[in-house]
Amino acid sequence: MPTETVYGLAADAGNPIAVASLYAAKGRPAFNPLIAHVLDEAAAAAVADLDERGRRLIEAFWPGPLTIVAPIRDRAAICDLARAGLDSVAVRAPAHAIARECLAAFGGPVVAPSANRSGRPSPTTFADAMAETGSFAAVGLDGGSCAVGLESTVVSLLDGPPKLLRPGAVTRFQIEALIGPLADAGADAGRSPGRLARHYAPSSPVRLNVADPALGEAWLAFGDALEGPAIFNLSPTGNLNEAAANLFTFLRAADRLSPTAIAVAPIPHAGLGEAINDRLERAAGKIG
Ligand code: TXA
Ligand code: MG
Repeated sequence: MPTETVYGLAADAGNPIAVASLYAAKGRPAFNPLIAHVLDEAAAAAVADLDERGRRLIEAFWPGPLTIVAPIRDRAAICDLARAGLDSVAVRAPAHAIARECLAAFGGPVVAPSANRSGRPSPTTFADAMAETGSFAAVGLDGGSCAVGLESTVVSLLDGPPKLLRPGAVTRFQIEALIGPLADAGADAGRSPGRLARHYAPSSPVRLNVADPALGEAWLAFGDALEGPAIFNLSPTGNLNEAAANLFTFLRAADRLSPTAIAVAPIPHAGLGEAINDRLERAAGKIG
């Protein structure tokens, strides 16, 4: 899907299987929250809690290359995986006519990371977008060359002063004129702000690589396993896409049982498994 910034690889923001496939197709080494693309302020306000600062920014810069991070309001519309389990969501209304037609026709929020394989530059022409993702995208829309060619500015309006997470076509100066000084996001935030934020950690302790859960534990199984009221099978067939799509949702469901611990079966590290293990280690307090 063309946008005025870069081409995006678009998927239904409310469909965890679609979002998991998107992470896998891009080969992202770890889940990094995605931007929910919407048509307008009303659509953004339906999924995010916007304050006065957010409304001012939207009035000035939407549709256009500004992404706003705000508390999540509708968790189902932007699935856990699309938010990497965060309690916040990034929203943006693209200006490109074709992107807007897509959003209007689809009728709901669409996640769209830049349409490149992980680690490669964002595509700004239809040919580049097809070279990167044409082999697995269901359809490619030719919108010509992207007017901006740089990813959108990302501003966080979460607690405290607003922060510039990613500089872009809407400048610091333009933003500060409307909502006051922007705090520094920290040295690493430009590279991957999603990884700095606190990720979902269950209130129950999490034990990893458990093949044989103890009585009183909830179990996140993977592959062939017994069934039971406290057993949540991430993927009975051992499919990592499906496991990724289920991960955050099942962690929450297991946690709701208040078990002595959430035991998690060993998950292979290959492919999307690296990201799943990264998130599980964060949930278990091993890294993060
Ligand atoms: O211009 C753009 O924004 C393009 C076009 C296609 O719209 N999309 C794009 O998406 O650049 P992506 O996935 O490559 O970058 C999304 C950025 C990442 O830096 C991510 O960490 C940040 O937005 N982000 C998303 N949700 C966030 C959240 N809840 N908190 C903090 N950062 C978030
Ligand atoms: Mg990108």
